[in-house]
Amino acid sequence: MAIYDTLGTTYGLTRRPDPRIAARIHAALGDSAEVINVGAGTGSYEPPRTVLAVEPSQVMIAQRLPGAAPAVCAVAERLPLRTGAADAVMALLTVHHWTDPAAGLAELRRVARRRIVVLTWDQAVFRERFWLVRDYLPSAAAYDDTRAVPIGRLAELLGGARVEPVPVPHDCTDGFGAAFWRRPDAYLDPRVRAGISLFAQTGEDALAPGLAALGDDLATGRWHERHAGLLTLDSMDVGYRLLIADS
Ligand SMILES: C[S@@+](CC[C@H](N)C(=O)[O-])C[C@H]1O[C@@H](n2cnc3c(N)ncnc32)[C@H](O)[C@@H]1O
Repeated sequence: MAIYDTLGTTYGLTRRPDPRIAARIHAALGDSAEVINVGAGTGSYEPPRTVLAVEPSQVMIAQRLPGAAPAVCAVAERLPLRTGAADAVMALLTVHHWTDPAAGLAELRRVARRRIVVLTWDQAVFRERFWLVRDYLPSAAAYDDTRAVPIGRLAELLGGARVEPVPVPHDCTDGFGAAFWRRPDAYLDPRVRAGISLFAQTGEDALAPGLAALGDDLATGRWHERHAGLLTLDSMDVGYRLLIADS
């Protein structure tokens, strides 16, 4: 069973594509005429020129909107597509789930004629700048250490890539890991955590002490005292990165 058949049941509730991040992804795709979305999930960020979604979880495929591009149930490591099948291939917030990222990225390079766009995060930046994993949830940071692919390695596997920071807006509508960096109460909501694989896969028992400490700090005002500077920011570079490669 695909992991997102379990993790993805409420994805659509908390993971709505953010228009500002969408603009960055669409700019990175340039004028590519056809796009294939690998690890497509429910279809977030797919431009209208998307011709195919590749996704291993039927639960995620079932949440795609009517009228979205057709989806095939498959993994990045073995794309059921001919070489050079599309102008561009994108893989957003998915590479860290692949059992063999090197094989998956080689497949993206085989299938993309011109452009590959990958959205991921730099774990070194993330674990240092994101107060939640740094100060409250070290077990979650340690879990991410095991699955995040270093940005330099990703760029190498793509045959070279331009790397662009993607700052996260303070009111980001896509509830991924650090989306609520200025809305700390959100992390106390189990529905929010359920939509974030980092927390769902670290497990509630390991998270419980850190979440209790966060609850206390929010109740006493300690969090707001410590992070007063964050509350004045409109967006923050928490480590999310776009990799843009030409094939
Ligand atoms: C966090 S979701 C991201 C979905 C979508 N790209 C988005 O930005 O909303 C990660 C997705 O990667 C998919 N995935 C997991 N392992 C995969 C693999 N080996 N190949 C392709 N996709 C995979 C999951 O099923 C899930 O839908």
